[in-house]
Amino acid sequence: MAKFSKSLERWNDRFSVEHYLFGKEPNHYLVEQQKYLIGGRALAIADGEGRNSIWLAQQGLQVDTFDFSPVAIKKAQQLAQNKKVKVHFNCNDWQSFTWSENTYDYVVGIFFQFADPEDRKELFAKMNLTLKPGGLMIIQGYGEKQIQYNTGGPGVLENLYTEELLQNAFANYEILDSQTYEKEIVEGDGHAGMSSLVGFVGRKR
Ligand SMILES: C[S@@+](CC[C@H](N)C(=O)[O-])C[C@H]1O[C@@H](n2cnc3c(N)ncnc32)[C@H](O)[C@@H]1O
Repeated sequence: MAKFSKSLERWNDRFSVEHYLFGKEPNHYLVEQQKYLIGGRALAIADGEGRNSIWLAQQGLQVDTFDFSPVAIKKAQQLAQNKKVKVHFNCNDWQSFTWSENTYDYVVGIFFQFADPEDRKELFAKMNLTLKPGGLMIIQGYGEKQIQYNTGGPGVLENLYTEELLQNAFANYEILDSQTYEKEIVEGDGHAGMSSLVGFVGRKR
């Protein structure tokens, strides 16, 4: 955990507000994939205050999550309780999380661009490992133009996505959706305003 301590402190500070930094509603791109959510187990990675995992559980999935911020997880647990849904929250950084092989029908990663290219390679490999063959990988992140918009995200060009980057990372996948677009989003005050976005949905072969 030592490697992350500065960043963990920063995230805990950001989440130490009464309101939900990224709102209580699920990410719009995830909601657009509702047709694919037909049951089974999902892992929501770096899930923050729980808006996405809770929505996935409301779709009838059995959901596990992890995030390294205990402050965010406490808020997520409260939201799940208010909405009367069950989600299994884990407080882990991505490196200490137990990624079991071929376990999930869905791996969902929404805005987890804290990983630089080297870490990202390892993180994507773990996401791939834990997804069952036939399972879906659903990813939403900021595109490279987000550097100009500055309305959310890591503010580091090398951490941003292109469609090509995601398609190469999951080259053995059947692509169900791949798009780069610009959209005005309001996801709490953490992500607000015109944004450059990349979405990817792929089925592991
Ligand atoms: C931009 S927020 C997105 C949260 C959530 N996915 C959402 O869309 O609302 C990024 C999340 O990554 C988490 N995070 C950052 N570094 C992490 C790490 N090394 N391991 C696990 N989680 C991390 C933060 O605590 C934060 O909740």
